[in-house]
Amino acid sequence: MSYYHIKHLEEYFQVYRKSVRDPEIFWEEIAEEHFLWRKRWDKVLEWDFSKPEIKWFQGAKLNITENCIDRHLAAKGDKTAILFEPNDPSEEAQHITYNELHERVNRFANVLKEKGIAKGDRVCIYLPMIPELAISVLACARIGAIHSVVFAGFSSTALATRINDAECKMVITSDGSFRGAKTIDLKGIVDDALESCPSIESVLVAKRIDSDINMKEGRDHWLQPLLDDASGQCEAEIMNAEDPLFILYTSGSTGKPKGMVHTTGGYMVYTAYTFKNVFQYNEGDVYWCTADIGWITGHSYIVYGPLANGATTVMFEGVPTYPDWGRFWQIVEKHKVNQFYTAPTAIRALAKEPLSFVEGYDLSSLKVLGTVGEPINEEAWHWYNENIGKTKSPIVDTWWQTETGGIMISPIPFATPTIPTYATLPMPGIQPCLMDDNSEEIKGNSTEGRLCIKFPWPSMARTIWGNHQRYKETYFSAYENKYFTGDGALRDQTGYYRITGRVDDVIIVSGHNLGTAPIEDAVNEHQAVAESAIVGFPHEVKGNALYGYVILKETGEDRNQDNLRKEINQLITERIGPIAKLDKIQFTSGLPKTRSGKIMRRILRKIASNDTSNLGDTSTLLNPEVVQEIMDNVL
Ligand code: WT7
Repeated sequence: MSYYHIKHLEEYFQVYRKSVRDPEIFWEEIAEEHFLWRKRWDKVLEWDFSKPEIKWFQGAKLNITENCIDRHLAAKGDKTAILFEPNDPSEEAQHITYNELHERVNRFANVLKEKGIAKGDRVCIYLPMIPELAISVLACARIGAIHSVVFAGFSSTALATRINDAECKMVITSDGSFRGAKTIDLKGIVDDALESCPSIESVLVAKRIDSDINMKEGRDHWLQPLLDDASGQCEAEIMNAEDPLFILYTSGSTGKPKGMVHTTGGYMVYTAYTFKNVFQYNEGDVYWCTADIGWITGHSYIVYGPLANGATTVMFEGVPTYPDWGRFWQIVEKHKVNQFYTAPTAIRALAKEPLSFVEGYDLSSLKVLGTVGEPINEEAWHWYNENIGKTKSPIVDTWWQTETGGIMISPIPFATPTIPTYATLPMPGIQPCLMDDNSEEIKGNSTEGRLCIKFPWPSMARTIWGNHQRYKETYFSAYENKYFTGDGALRDQTGYYRITGRVDDVIIVSGHNLGTAPIEDAVNEHQAVAESAIVGFPHEVKGNALYGYVILKETGEDRNQDNLRKEINQLITERIGPIAKLDKIQFTSGLPKTRSGKIMRRILRKIASNDTSNLGDTSTLLNPEVVQEIMDNVL
């Protein structure tokens, strides 16, 4: 029996039981057999959820890029590591072999060093989905610098907040980016952000769209000439297993974004292990995840997990709609993609278009289909299964989070029987549980509660950058000795899990995790706005859309409401990014509040969702009369 590659259901149960009975022996065997360590660990696991402190493979030394690149060179140096598919289908795809990746990462790493970046320094990466993005991530890891990738759809304000929080020394960006028929002025956004980022010493700029941009003397450098002059050899910095590998920001229900810190050894082991099993990757397969590397999905399942397995991983620069709605399937056919991993929101959008966009393409290479980011509804699941998988490719509905680093609950294709909308069973090593309203664990099946994890796993985030107290409060304080996910879930009669959605004020829009607080902050900055509350409501394609209730100041009351709406969304675009724009904005004279002054979002959510048959108890409200006013004016 192989722990590393599970092939049928009984094997899964055996492996799972082993992983719960002897977690340390289980992970030790996997770590030992499948990775390259410069020094062995002294201890597999040390943990205390009350502090919280979690350490995996303590004392071990390694470099993750030796595992993702160097060790594959002897046997498969000429194999394609990264297959780059450009935005424009008439531009040629690039097949970057493991040998080439080795050389390009080393050159880049030497440029970083030459520009003063050393082990432990933070580097912000703000790039479109071009090879330089994956290469710069790996170059940071090569020299032990901590990368902080910021999704290149975020605004200059959002970028500045993240740069300042981590006190990054450098930004890596490009002149601009292609997005379907549009181009975006990335360097201009960076320039705006850097007006308020004192820690930045230098900016490296990749040329992608050949636009005319400003280069600030002494600070900004074109990347290519530096790479041309750099050596293709760079010794890997030997890291401790628990040294930070990267920071990645995610929204919380309150406050500024949280810089989740992931460390090296455990993250590598877990992402590689789950990649192998969840996608059943076999040598020679071509794997494609459509996410952006700016999100955790891209970190773990475009870059680190696949490369640690010596896989071929596709990187797609463009969008599903350009030049038309057939683009995904054209790429599947062109590169004979075997595993395809995308988000439910993309499936729903594609399913609304005529089937003729699918039918012309040969999709027979597909073996495994995946989804991630939000619950997949039954209709979308069936469309995916019938039209893309032709009912032959199992669909893995993978539940996980930025904080978990890797996939936590998911079917193993060809082993776990799938049911639409169910993420099914925990991965080996993952011990989920459901908690009731009295903070007791609910035993048995056919039940529903709040989803927690009661034992550490190797890729869990270790802290929030600069704020360990917040890490403790957010994840380890709701329930004693358990990691709280923020999600609700049900467990059916066979023990399968179905994720029912967030139980806090985080809203998942098109698979993007948006906290209400930062959006409300942006809205409240408008000079005519006194107060606001944002809630989610169901949306056909996006899963959830955003509904804003806004109280105007007296001075704003006679302004044109449509103009105000435009200005508010413009502010949100500037402060956060277009993904956080409000779909509906209702102006109101008040918001329902409890006596302690807390907004009753439950009521606002129901009204926005057109579900007012049972608003629950409103008697504890300070201002119950406002509920009727809001209902009368709902959009
Ligand atoms: C939240 C985490 C993990 C990468 C993408 C999102 C929701 C994620 C599923 C799924 C139902 C899901 C949860 C989770 N979510 N996958 N398969 N079924 N919900 O990462 O931005 O950190 O968001 O996404 O609500 O808590 P993220």
